[in-house]
Amino acid sequence: MFDNFPLWPQRASSMAGNVDALFIFLLIVSGLMTLLIFTAIIYFAARYRYRKGVPAEQIEGSIPLELSWSLIPLGVFMVIFAWGAVVYFKGRTPPRDSTEVYVVAKQWMWKLEHAEGQREINELHVPVGRDVKLIMTSQDVIHSFFVPAFRMKQDVLPGRYTVAWFHATKPGTYHLFCAEYCGTQHSGMIGSIVVMEPAQYEAWMSGGTGGPLSATGEKIFAELGCVTCHRSDTQGRGPNLQGVFGKPVQLEDGRMLTADENYVRESILDPGAKVVKGFKPVMPTFQGLVSEEQLNALVAYVKSQSQPGAGVAKANAAVTAPEGAPGKGNQVQ
Ligand code: CUA
Repeated sequence: MFDNFPLWPQRASSMAGNVDALFIFLLIVSGLMTLLIFTAIIYFAARYRYRKGVPAEQIEGSIPLELSWSLIPLGVFMVIFAWGAVVYFKGRTPPRDSTEVYVVAKQWMWKLEHAEGQREINELHVPVGRDVKLIMTSQDVIHSFFVPAFRMKQDVLPGRYTVAWFHATKPGTYHLFCAEYCGTQHSGMIGSIVVMEPAQYEAWMSGGTGGPLSATGEKIFAELGCVTCHRSDTQGRGPNLQGVFGKPVQLEDGRMLTADENYVRESILDPGAKVVKGFKPVMPTFQGLVSEEQLNALVAYVKSQSQPGAGVAKANAAVTAPEGAPGKGNQVQ
């Protein structure tokens, strides 16, 4: 019966069931409350009606009544709060060892780059049953990455990274929408997530690439001359980047922070903002000199320097593909 009139989008991620269960619970609680209120209104209106009704009697306070209408809603709201918090944090925290995909939004398209090097426009191929982490930024205005079948929605902002993740549970093709009004063609800023069986996915992945994103980043790192200061010995004018990503960093002003994607990004675009202890703010800014794609590659490279077997994949390093949109929905090579 509901095949032609589905009440919910398909459930195709590990989060979908959790989100739906909470939503249905809220729907039932609100429904019961509405029913209770309207039943009481109708009952009292009939019972205490002006003509032929029971004369209304004034009540001056009732402890049991007041306690129950305070404590019962409190209990219900605490359940909603705790349940919501658990679902929220689960949905917000990408599991370790997720496959990483970089997303760059712009008016009006989605550009996606796999850590392995595949580039796509308005289409994202992922394997079923694996955690996928999206590291997203925008080239212009605020967009929002929305996949109803995954019950996943995350704003994509210019000037910083936001993160989202999903674990697809069913092969298929699912809608991707932009869920933040971003200009005249906002409604056309759509795409699809193609969830494939692992074998199919491996075949798709082997279909040509310019090398891993981190290798592209390494090439840019050399071309921009970063490598002359960020040397792998301790003699450089900038900190050695080996093993830095994901670790705590002590800053010149005494603050401590964790080197994450946003920190690396800021250090490239605004190097003076957070200088590492023991170093001078001598690095020039690369604001306007690197595209979002090149930034992503640099971040992927710095990240790769903290993985076991750091500094791999020198061969096959290709220059990042030029700016501009190839055919819609095609894999870019
Ligand atoms: Cu991008 Cu709406």
